[in-house]
Amino acid sequence: MIVYWNGQFIPKEQVRVSPDDRGFLFGDGVYEVVRIYNGRFFEMEAHEQRLIESANAIGLALPGFKGMGAFAQELLGHQTLPDGNGVLYYQISRGAAPRKHFFPDPPIQASHYAYIQALPLPDLATRPGAAVHTGPDRRWANCHIKSIALLGSVLAAQEAKDKGGHEAILHRDERVTEGSHTNVFAVMNGSLLTHPANQWVLNGINRRVVIELAKEAGIPCSEKAFTLSELKQASEVFLTGTTVEIWPVVSIDGMQVGDGQTGPVARQLQSLFDRGKDRLA
Ligand code: PDD
Repeated sequence: MIVYWNGQFIPKEQVRVSPDDRGFLFGDGVYEVVRIYNGRFFEMEAHEQRLIESANAIGLALPGFKGMGAFAQELLGHQTLPDGNGVLYYQISRGAAPRKHFFPDPPIQASHYAYIQALPLPDLATRPGAAVHTGPDRRWANCHIKSIALLGSVLAAQEAKDKGGHEAILHRDERVTEGSHTNVFAVMNGSLLTHPANQWVLNGINRRVVIELAKEAGIPCSEKAFTLSELKQASEVFLTGTTVEIWPVVSIDGMQVGDGQTGPVARQLQSLFDRGKDRLA
């Protein structure tokens, strides 16, 4: 497998990450995951913009950074994806320097790493609904930054898996924030709700697409937080994210959601979910 490492396209086995890399030592870096449909990148500009915002938010200067497009396209040329469907992973860490909490001064060369791997389209007819387990959101207070320091998310995801679920749904003081790697939507009294895009959630690209599609379709939608007990009474719940697209939730903590099937709002949004040319680069 050919990967991108600091400006070069090399076999993955040849990547040598320094043990002093601040990504390795501190989780000091940012990342993006971009879906590839039919050989083209989905919402690339939005991902690029969010990456720049994340880098700015952690004081990571990117001198000479020309965006993801240029190298991502070349990386794609090194990969054979069945039907052209996959994901691009890209991370930038602050680089390798003897371990000190302070940023290296003067700044050092950041470490850039990217790879592309196959990911088939979900088969909506056969994909089981998501079983989720709820738990306290123990992550930091800057969840809008797409940081590679994901221990809080990893622990939440594993806890949900250990309980036999597919994903965790997190809450702070009863207020539902998001999943370990997804955003959460709920339908209550015919309205679609999701947590506002602030420091407590990642402003997911698919979250934004779903809000836009709901608005276009005339589905009432507000960016408003809801509680855990409201979530459990919602007529529909679904997750959004680059890897899952729109994934209906059929059970929460072992209790069935609605009638345990994909609900009408999720189904409508799934059919409107636009992998079309306006979103592809
Ligand atoms: N995760 N919330 C969190 C905490 C996430 O990590 C992600 C994505 C999302 C959904 O964002 P988007 O629609 O932009 O993918 C929400 C990526 C896919 C990951 O860590 O693999």
